[in-house]
Amino acid sequence: MKETLWSGRTVEKPNEEAFAFQASIRIDKRLVQDDIRGTRVHTAMLAQQGIIPKDIAVVLDTELLRIAEELTNGELAIDERAEDVHSFVETELTRRLGDAGRMVHAGRSRNDQVALDFRLYLKRRTDELCGEIKALMSILLDKAEEYVDALMPGYTHLQRAQPITLGFHLTAWVCALERDLSRFRDAVSRMDECPLGSGALAGSGLPLDREKIAANLGFRAPSLNAMDSVADRDFAVELATDAAICQIHLSRFCEDVILWASVEFGFLCLSEKWITGSSIMPQKKNPDFAELIRGKTGRATGNLVALLTMLKGIPYAYDKDLQEDKEALFDSFDTVSVCLRMFRGMIADSSFNRERMETACIGGFSEATDAADYLVRKGLPFRKAHEVSALIVRDCIDAGQSCIGERTLEELRERSLLFEEDVFSALTPRACVSARKTLGGVASAEVRRQIAVLRERI
Ligand code: ARG
Repeated sequence: MKETLWSGRTVEKPNEEAFAFQASIRIDKRLVQDDIRGTRVHTAMLAQQGIIPKDIAVVLDTELLRIAEELTNGELAIDERAEDVHSFVETELTRRLGDAGRMVHAGRSRNDQVALDFRLYLKRRTDELCGEIKALMSILLDKAEEYVDALMPGYTHLQRAQPITLGFHLTAWVCALERDLSRFRDAVSRMDECPLGSGALAGSGLPLDREKIAANLGFRAPSLNAMDSVADRDFAVELATDAAICQIHLSRFCEDVILWASVEFGFLCLSEKWITGSSIMPQKKNPDFAELIRGKTGRATGNLVALLTMLKGIPYAYDKDLQEDKEALFDSFDTVSVCLRMFRGMIADSSFNRERMETACIGGFSEATDAADYLVRKGLPFRKAHEVSALIVRDCIDAGQSCIGERTLEELRERSLLFEEDVFSALTPRACVSARKTLGGVASAEVRRQIAVLRERI
């Protein structure tokens, strides 16, 4: 059993299992570089304020830098018997420098220290995650451009609804990702306050320069209230929410991919790199990657619920419950970032079957709205036009026809005399798409404009 630096007034020690139960090193060791960074800035400030001697601060800084390097190049390993990452760094410093190492914790508590380390880490990781989102957006926009004219049925209620293009569908996905991006950026701007110098909960009696610490650690400002600084985990909840929403988006995209890759749809051909076979059925090509991304959504939403539940009953200051925050959020970040990469690779390597998609536009009467619109353009009130179009769809079905265009002009005119020869060219899937030029619509020029706007926003 490891004796902590701050065993304090206790004489008896927990047994090994109990010590391990309350320790967090296994999880928070990934904060080590952030902890060292914070400690270096804190130490420099202590010297500047005359709280520790300047020459000792220099020695401390050199050693902290050395520890950071040794950890990076593998010369030094994290001691997993330490209680947490903060005690590991301080113990290592003290082991090397003796009393000098014992000076670094002046004016600081692990409560503000962990609040700082966690924020520093999350700012970094969020930046990386935003990079992953942007990379995916960019691949999707390339594909959207490539398939901007590729006709496919658009579905509502998973029933063929109106003809669209694949470029339009992919652009819709990118809109969702663009909001994810802005949510992450937004959360980071709100958490951009430095908690260090808050101490255990009430600030410090030592003359700390919190403005300096905040500036040197790249924060907008020091946090306003010391107690709130150690109690707050809103930033973790916000980021877990953003991660869950992003993962749910991926999950829904994957559901599209899984449907499209089925023999029934046949719209999408996944590259062999992104499918797996079956151990028994020789013919199988399973979209396992897409299914797994969809399946991992349970983690992202579970982590969010875990965080909210953990916070619910905690008196407003630091309590050890808060230590549970990191495992949940780390898992959310790890999950979303690997899923973003997998999804990107899967889409980049796959190809779409234009012919299948276009053929699928025929047969579901997805031109029925356009037949109604045609009559509206000729002056018929929409509700009447809707009824005429519905009757014509029924006529087609009775006659075994697969689209309105298969009827003769005479047959159409039995339902409305407003029909003329030009109706046939107005009802092809291509014409239905081209007609929808409204802002946000599916017409190719409009989708190209949407793509340009999204590229601008990346
Ligand atoms: N390992 C702790 C955590 O992650 C650090 C803060 C401990 N503070 C304390 N008063 N026990 O929350």
